[in-house]
Amino acid sequence: PRSIFFSRHGESQYNVEGKIGGDSSLSERGMRYARALPALITDNIGDAELTVWTSTLQRTIQTAQYLPYNKLTWKSLDELDAGVCDGMTYEEIEQAYPEDFANRDEDKFNYRYRGGESYRDVVVRLEPVIMELERQENILIIGHQAILRCLYAYFHNLPQADLPYIKIPLHTVIKLTPKAYGCDEERYTLPI
Ligand code: F6P
Repeated sequence: PRSIFFSRHGESQYNVEGKIGGDSSLSERGMRYARALPALITDNIGDAELTVWTSTLQRTIQTAQYLPYNKLTWKSLDELDAGVCDGMTYEEIEQAYPEDFANRDEDKFNYRYRGGESYRDVVVRLEPVIMELERQENILIIGHQAILRCLYAYFHNLPQADLPYIKIPLHTVIKLTPKAYGCDEERYTLPI
């Protein structure tokens, strides 16, 4: 049966600094994940043919760079656009936009960043990606936290209110195998 594989990009420089958004490169630890990813995949799934989808952002492309498969970049897979808050830490956002910060906490799914997006917006822009995913064989998506939350919620049929809080850890491959109802799931983590 076909499976869909998800991984966040390796740890980025912005992840280390606690900043959101941006287009930073991988940290040294993130680079170790990129180098270990080909073996993490073949050790767990063998040599089945995969196609790798990344966003247009450096951190996903760098994470995919050592994978020996065909690759496609999707603008629609870019991380949730945090608008005026792009590049800030959560503390800086709370200082600069205290009301927005509280509103986001109140309704994280619908909160839209000034000049940016909400989770609801991202769900809409992912529709074509999901349609294509449904038509394809084994796809590995190297993505971003908010994006993978939306895709994961779609395949597991999770409610919108829970979606923005789904835990998608770094340095972990999530394998979903669609069944008649729902999906089977396995996870492979790199201990670094
Ligand atoms: O911190 C990494 C990151 O991918 C940010 O770029 C993004 O804004 C954030 O996670 C999304 O998570 P949350 O919606 O919980 O802030």
